[in-house]
Parts: sequence; C-alpha cells; structure tokens
Amino acid sequence: MQGIKITGTGSYIPDRVVTNEDFTRFLDTSDEWIYTRTGIKSRFYNTDKMNFQMGAAAAENALKNAGITAKDIDLIILSCCTPDFFYPNTSCLIQGLIGADNAVCIDINTACTGFITALDMARRYLCTGDHKRALVVASEFLTRQQDFTDRTSCFLFGDGAGAVVVEAADKPFYSVMGAKSDLLDFLYCKVEYKSNIPMEGFTDYEGYLKDKNFKTVQQNRYLQMDGKAVYRFAVDAMADSFARVCEKAGVNTGDIDLVIPHQANIRIINAALKSMDVPKERVYVNLEEHGNTSSACIPTILDEINKKGVLAEGKKMALVGFGGGLTYGSVYMEL
Ligand code: UT7
Repeated sequence: MQGIKITGTGSYIPDRVVTNEDFTRFLDTSDEWIYTRTGIKSRFYNTDKMNFQMGAAAAENALKNAGITAKDIDLIILSCCTPDFFYPNTSCLIQGLIGADNAVCIDINTACTGFITALDMARRYLCTGDHKRALVVASEFLTRQQDFTDRTSCFLFGDGAGAVVVEAADKPFYSVMGAKSDLLDFLYCKVEYKSNIPMEGFTDYEGYLKDKNFKTVQQNRYLQMDGKAVYRFAVDAMADSFARVCEKAGVNTGDIDLVIPHQANIRIINAALKSMDVPKERVYVNLEEHGNTSSACIPTILDEINKKGVLAEGKKMALVGFGGGLTYGSVYMEL
C-alpha cells in the first residue's frame, strides 16, 4: 500500500464574525486596504472554547461523516501551532474528549504547513499496517497570538479546526516537503517563560536571540512577521513544491482536478498559480470569509467541498502549503 483514502471530513467554525470594518475601530486601516491587499473580508474568532475543544468538535464531525465511532480510531495526528498546553499534547486532550481510547496521540507543528505534514505522517503510519484508521486534525486558535496594535498582521488571521478520517489504500500518494530555517525570523511567535527561580545568574538565557538578531524579541508574546519577505518566499515555495510533487507522481500539472492552497493571501495564491499551470476554477479558496487559519485552512476547505460532493473517487488532488519555519510542502493524492 502506498496511499490513503479519506473516509470522512469535519470542521468546527466559531460563531463570531469579525469584519474588516471592525478593525477600523481600533486601527488605522480600511476595509478597502485589507480586501485589495489580501482578499479577506471577514474571519471567525473563537470566543468560548479551548483550542482542543475546537479540534475535538471537528474530529467528532469527521467521525460522524465517516460513519464510525471514536473507538474505531487507533491513531490521532494533530497539527497545531497555537496549543493550550505544552503538555499534555492537544491530541491527548482531544482523545479524552471524544473517547478515542484506542488511539496513539501525536502532535506536530510545522506551522501553517501542518496539515500537509500530518496527513503525510498518517499515511506513513497507516501504510506499515500497524495502524488501521487515523484521525488527522488541525486546530488553530490564532487570535490569542495576535498583537492587535500591529496593523500589518493582526487582520490576516482567524480561528477554526478541520479533521479527516483516513485509511490505507492502494492509491497514489506523493509528497514533497522542506524547510528553510535561515528565514525563520520572517515569521515566529516565541514562547514566553516567566521563571520564578529564586537564584541568581539565570536571567540571560535569551542571549542567543539577541545575538541572532531576531527582529523584535522584546515583543515576544505575539506573532512577529515580515509580511513582504513571507510573501516572496510563499509564491516561489508553493509553485516549486507543487511542480516537484507532480513530477514525482508523474502527472502533468494541468491534469490535477483540484488544488487546495494554504489560505494566506489571494495575491500569493494568484501569483503562485501563474507558474503552476492550473486553471483557476480548479483551485479552492475560502479566505474571503475565513481569513488565514494556519494549518486549519486546508482541512476546513476539504470539509466544505466534501459536503458539496467535490471529493469524488478517482479525482486527482494537490494540497500546497507554506508556513513559519519557514516550512513548505505539497501532497499529491488520488481520491
Ligand atoms: O500563513 C502565513 C502568514 N503570513 C503571510 O502569509 C503574510 C504574507 N504577506 C502578506 O500577506 C502581505 O505582505 C501583507 C498583507 C501582510 C501586506 O501587504 P503588502 O502589499 O506587502 O503591503 P506593505 O507591507 O508593503 O505595506 C504597504 C503600505 C505601507 O505604507 P507605506 O510604507 O507604503 O507608506 C504600510 O504601512 O500599506 C501600509 N499598511 C497598511 N495600510 C492600511 C500596512 N498595513 C496596513 C493596514 N491598513 N492594515
């Protein structure tokens, strides 16, 4: 077995809609600027759940869609760069909430590329035959990492979760992934530790960051981004990993039936598409309404289009992403 089949999809979308207009009440910005620069009109904000509760809700919807129970799952791989705890990991928290007692629980973090990485990992576990049925979940609570005084980034992001149930299948599946850590300070959010160690000489363990010239370590609680640099990286990385995965799979880029790119900015997607040779109508986008929900973007769209009957057996699908790290990755699979 080489590949996987998706047997169920689910998502959780929070209720609170935040429009571009809402940002004009506390930032020097406009709906027109945000929309023309990004393609985003609104996003959903989580107001009443922990991140793992969003992930669990998406997982339960995916189980329902697959027609199975949580007990039938023996592996959960969870992607998240906005967790509630360092430990337990988010997949353990989800296991407890949904009752997936038979599942091994693993979290991964490749930022916005996370769902692609998690799906590829699930495929590798399933194809050994050691695991029968996996839940791949991406759950992101990005609003709590935003600096709402920073008009260059906070409007981009939303919250949400998506999940798929997958099983091994004799179908093509190829991936291309990588990272360019020399670009890591273009996009990061640092852990803030507040030590109460009652001894002297332990205060300068962040010297490394200062030496390495991380741009704004003093504002370390929030997401930090060089938007233009990420933009440039994203266009090339998406087009390149897509071309490489198609080559690996031996398919022409023009033969792909559906492409789901990471939903960062419509201008990034359109610029990448120019060199991808894929007609626009085969590319699925929901960022106008959802904004960027990091690794939750792709599975949320998968659920959306599954409900519309788009994920028909035999179709050729590519998932294409990039994220903090900076990481990138593309998957090609036949449904
Ligand atoms: O999952 C990955 C996460 N990150 C990304 O995907 C980010 C990728 N980058 C982007 O999406 C874009 O770079 C942004 C949307 C963040 C910014 O768009 P841009 O076209 O690169 O704009 P810019 O940074 O070049 O800013 C242009 C101008 C500047 O004014 P000056 O210097 O030309 O006078 C900014 O100060 O727009 C100004 N500006 C704003 N104006 C109104 C920056 N933010 C805003 C704002 N409202 N919110």
